[in-house]
Amino acid sequence: MDWGLKNRMSKIIRPENGRAVMLAVDHGYFLGPTSRLEVPRTTIAPLAPYADSIMLTRGVLRSSVDPSICNSIVLRVSGGASIVGEDLSNEGIITSVEDALRLNASGIALSIFVGSKHERQTLLALSELVNEGQKHGMPVLAVTAVGKEIGQKDARYLALASRIAAEIGAHIVKTYYCEDFEKVVESCPVPIVVAGGKKIPEKDALELTYNSLKAGAAGVDMGRNIWQSDHPVPMIKAVREIVHKDATAKDAYELFKKLSSKK
Ligand code: 5RP
Repeated sequence: MDWGLKNRMSKIIRPENGRAVMLAVDHGYFLGPTSRLEVPRTTIAPLAPYADSIMLTRGVLRSSVDPSICNSIVLRVSGGASIVGEDLSNEGIITSVEDALRLNASGIALSIFVGSKHERQTLLALSELVNEGQKHGMPVLAVTAVGKEIGQKDARYLALASRIAAEIGAHIVKTYYCEDFEKVVESCPVPIVVAGGKKIPEKDALELTYNSLKAGAAGVDMGRNIWQSDHPVPMIKAVREIVHKDATAKDAYELFKKLSSKK
């Protein structure tokens, strides 16, 4: 790895412990104004101090994030499909690596839709992005997206998709927690971060975080389970406690309850 790429990677995954708390707020790129992310600035500002990096689109970055922010930025650069359109997997690259560099991004992210009609197109987009990223020292995070028609999220599928992403050259893989998750982690030669998925009770989301790390994940790239909580700041603090302080799910939930009741 060249110095620039290593340096950018260290802004996403902390070198002292190999862990990462990423705040995902990129949902609008295909969901529009999702619940509790209607006004991105209002959602992002109070949570940013507790995230190592923020994953978002260039539109939201430019319009809704203070440029003096200390967080690293992971730019979502794939899109082109919507929740009301024909096929969520019909994505392409929507932001150039050049623009990501101009925006001082520490990484770029795109979704791959393994097993979908547009599998080839999204995998070739990943390879194009890795080729471009390598030229500029820009790490690529591949999201093993699970579109509407691919209901299956078992370890076999997620290990397949994650491994393919790593083989093509992704530097980090974002995937979903599942039963036998350690199998997904052990067969993926690059760090894995876990998405939170749909909103579930805080206690369960903290268990998901704990179990993901226990199985070998480097951290989380979590969205809805943080900012759709009635207590988003206590929630991100509790997640952070697990990722960076090795707290158990139980201790993190106690912290969450304590901080929420204070509010
Ligand atoms: C979809 C995505 C999302 O936009 C998002 O980043 C997922 O985060 P969460 O599931 O934690 O809300 O990557 O593929």
